Amino acid sequence: AAHAFDLTTWTAAQPTAPAPFDAPVIAPEFTHDVVIRWGDPLRPGRAPFDVTALTAAEQAERFGFNADYTAWFPRRRGDTGPRAGTEGLLWVNHEYTDPVMMLPGYVEGSPTREQVDIELAAHGGSLVRVRQERDGSWRYEPHRDNVRITATTPMQLTGPAAGHPLLRTSADPTGTRVLGMLNNCGGGVTPWGTLLTCEENVDQYFANRSTVTDARQQASLTRFGVPEGASERRWEAHHPRFDLAQEPNEVNRFGWVVEIDPYDPRATPRKRTALGRFKHEAAAGTTTADGRYAVYSGDDSRFEHVFKFVTRDRVSPSARRNRDLLDAGTLYAARFDDDGSGVWLPLVHGQGPLTPENGWADQAEVLLYAREAASALGATPMDRPEDIEPNPVTGSVYVALTNNSRRTETDAANPRPGNATGHVLEIVEAGSDAGATTFAWGILLLAGDATDGAVYGGFTPDQVSELACPDNLAVDSLGQLWIATDGAPSAFRGRPTAMNDAVLGLPVVGSGRGRTQQIFGAVYGAEMTGVFFNTTETTMFASVQHPGEGGTLAEPTSNWPDGGTSVPRSAVVAIRRR
Ligand code: FEO
Ligand code: CA
Ligand code: CA
Ligand code: CA
Repeated sequence: AAHAFDLTTWTAAQPTAPAPFDAPVIAPEFTHDVVIRWGDPLRPGRAPFDVTALTAAEQAERFGFNADYTAWFPRRRGDTGPRAGTEGLLWVNHEYTDPVMMLPGYVEGSPTREQVDIELAAHGGSLVRVRQERDGSWRYEPHRDNVRITATTPMQLTGPAAGHPLLRTSADPTGTRVLGMLNNCGGGVTPWGTLLTCEENVDQYFANRSTVTDARQQASLTRFGVPEGASERRWEAHHPRFDLAQEPNEVNRFGWVVEIDPYDPRATPRKRTALGRFKHEAAAGTTTADGRYAVYSGDDSRFEHVFKFVTRDRVSPSARRNRDLLDAGTLYAARFDDDGSGVWLPLVHGQGPLTPENGWADQAEVLLYAREAASALGATPMDRPEDIEPNPVTGSVYVALTNNSRRTETDAANPRPGNATGHVLEIVEAGSDAGATTFAWGILLLAGDATDGAVYGGFTPDQVSELACPDNLAVDSLGQLWIATDGAPSAFRGRPTAMNDAVLGLPVVGSGRGRTQQIFGAVYGAEMTGVFFNTTETTMFASVQHPGEGGTLAEPTSNWPDGGTSVPRSAVVAIRRR
């Protein structure tokens, strides 16, 4: 049968001016279902969501706030049969909370303990049973085995930095046990059927950087953006672990890639320190020519770097034997040279500048301060590296660079000053081997409209669905690239182009290379994230994150998806052919 999302078989959605608008805009050949929304109960027999009745205990058993990355798993590990197209386990990241949009009576700067605990419980992720009905529509199933992971779920730190003195706290003198994960943005799925979920903007949860006396930690926290004094969220008022004055090392236990086994949900999630600590957008990978596993990860801040981790050992056919695979290997940062070549620079203690004489005591410090180590090696400062996705059909790797309004000095890989609309790079590893240490690269598209000199492969902006601020990427089995955007309304403000954030697809080979087609446009205030297909690729899941952002509970600026005067609720949609 024809692939439901084959770009040659459908018509791009035409956003109707003027944006913004508060209803999804979808390509005419497709329809969508709202699968699960913030506050929906994960357990059977619970009351429908009532924003005025939310408690921390309730939130811990309901779908969290701000849905981000999604990942589909068949109910049985490795199943590729027909049921793997209609019944699955859907993982969803809950990136962050927006308390003025979720907590009645919230007073900025002085939240109650219960309000902070609701926020902690609304972070993390959900693993829920989903199924497709006979009429084609998708719904989730409340079930006692659905899982919520939150900002207080016990986790284990593993790999070279685990147990290091800089990861020890008064609550955890071992430096190996941490409560929760924060700001989980993108992710990835491994060939052995586990989930990688990535901690990104963890700076916002910690307070009182001014009290840190260690010069290197002070510089690192400043580069991360940790506030000098009180945090905006004020979690530190109720939980001392978020106060650097009381726990200077707690912050070092966030900013990692977390591995979770959806088929063993009671197993402790593991923060894999071998992949380094930075603002991980996502972690998508592919196997190397000799059977090891390579994971790409962008560090989403202005002038930060692109990374790749390659395991020491080969992937085993046995899932159990891959349990600790991500604890040993080499982390690299990318240098993009202006001649279109590039080098993966190893973050290995004792090599190059990463020596004791230069203040690097051990590999744990190299991983903990991965940003500083990458800069010392000469990695290229990029325009906010977001998702990176290998294309198994073409062998190329795509890198979304979302924007960088502060760029003044350009280079070939970041060619636009004041880059408002972002671009997408294509990497071709030497020998098409993800284990290579050199690569070639080029620009697939410069996003934006004609006023930016935008280029979409060989096409001009008027020949395509324009986009701005590429964020999440996905690749289907035809090798088509899918882009979800975050920030288009502000990037396009004041221009003739009317646009909410959107999901678009494009071919990356052949005569259509670079011709984008919008399939789904988000609602007012929302970004689009988390594009992921079911096993049979008959359905695309995606998250509508922060609808109505900028509004409040009392004065919502979106009423999606429930309509009327209801509060906006971030939700996962399932997009399928009519
Ligand atoms: Fe959470 Fe970089 O987007
Ligand atoms: Ca986001
Ligand atoms: Ca993102
Ligand atoms: Ca983003």
